[in-house]
Amino acid sequence: MWEWIARPIPFLERASQRYGDVFTVRFPVGTVVFIADPAVIKQVFTGDPDTFHAGEANATPLEPLMGRNSVLLLDGREHMRQRKLMLPSFHGERMQRYGEVMRKAAEEEIATWPVGRPFGLRPRTQEITLQIIMRTVFGIDDAERLARLGERLASMLDIGMQSRALAAIAVPQVRRSIGRGIYKRFLRLRAAADAEIYDEIARRRRATDVEDRDDVLSILLQARDEDGRALTDEELRDELMTLLVAGHETTATTLAWAFQLLLRDRTKLARLQSEVDAGEEDGPYLDAVIKETLRIRPVVPGVIRKLTAPIQLAGYEIPAGMRVAPNIYLTHRRPDVYPEPESFRPERFLERPAETYSWIPFGGGVRRCLGAAFATYEMKVVIPAILRTVRLSAVGDEPERIRRRAITFVPERDGTVVVEEFRRRRPAPVQPEAVPAA
Ligand code: HEM
Repeated sequence: MWEWIARPIPFLERASQRYGDVFTVRFPVGTVVFIADPAVIKQVFTGDPDTFHAGEANATPLEPLMGRNSVLLLDGREHMRQRKLMLPSFHGERMQRYGEVMRKAAEEEIATWPVGRPFGLRPRTQEITLQIIMRTVFGIDDAERLARLGERLASMLDIGMQSRALAAIAVPQVRRSIGRGIYKRFLRLRAAADAEIYDEIARRRRATDVEDRDDVLSILLQARDEDGRALTDEELRDELMTLLVAGHETTATTLAWAFQLLLRDRTKLARLQSEVDAGEEDGPYLDAVIKETLRIRPVVPGVIRKLTAPIQLAGYEIPAGMRVAPNIYLTHRRPDVYPEPESFRPERFLERPAETYSWIPFGGGVRRCLGAAFATYEMKVVIPAILRTVRLSAVGDEPERIRRRAITFVPERDGTVVVEEFRRRRPAPVQPEAVPAA
């Protein structure tokens, strides 16, 4: 377990070399069957959701942040109910409406980047994706409220996403031995963030223009299930927190990885830059770059399902209670599907489309990431915004190594880059509205 937590890449590679596409790991907290074979993954993703429980399997690390009503943590009927209520807000076509807000959030942040001095890109893209979620999902546009909520959410997530803190928050035994102080601090910060979110929900319930609004919270407020029931305040809070936690760090990290890979390959960077400079929106090469980044650097390395009944899988009998875990990292490195799997080659997705069970950065089946279209669209706005505004260079010859950050795989040194120059006049930093003197 220590290897899997501290050195996940050598651990995965060694295990797969030694045991192949399907192997069992007996962790002290339970047995997990890792899977890196698309045919077997298909069986998991298309299997009966009542047998393959994702919610139960996700609950341990995520419940303290997301809450017990989170769509990620539910199973069966309740999961389908929440998922159906949320799906319309994340439909591909809807995303276009968020384009302008996304572009603005990116440009405001890029304007603050230093020139000639190395800095980690991940915290900066995370600021962009946090702003985007607060504006498009929570629907906040007031500068002061944005700043206050942003600060509260960032402080809470900052400790919630450290491996040690997450262990103390999620596992009572660990809390008792190492982490009471950190747990109390987390609870305080969560309460502060919750107060802000409940306040926003109450305001939106009072708002008279809710039917005309495009943000996800306003749409969720009006959503009704098959029995005509609406979401309660607590359910709304848990879903907002879920979208925030599931949505902003994952996307920000993928953006940082994209630049780690692109900046070390002049030809590919030039190809993308010319597509962007030609004003092509949603160009094919940009799409391929995003797909290849998610293939070779999947932020979420795997997904998990807990079995409620025994199953036959890849010739093995797997008993109820065990977990099966399609491994994204290993599946994306299969040489039979991706020749020269270690090279960053977006062209492969121009030659052959991504396949449902071998390109799985967003998981699959009835649990496939609800925000996949949102994240992809967001990256298609933010990457060009960066390329149009600044000329970046890499630090060091090789892309940074992969480091675990709680659940996700991030660049070891936060994806360090240098801004060589602003390609167009740097916009003035946005200041919150000045309060007139009395
Ligand atoms: C590059 C960015 C992202 C990646 C790599 C990613 C990846 C994932 C993965 C692997 C899962 C689990 C799927 C499974 O168990 O089969 C998931 C679930 C989920 N994601 Fe994402 N995600 C990203 C962005 C987002 C965004 C932007 C949002 C929302 C704004 C979001 C919301 C969710 C939700 C709600 C679920 C739970 C779905 C369910 O259980 O039914 N994600 N995501």
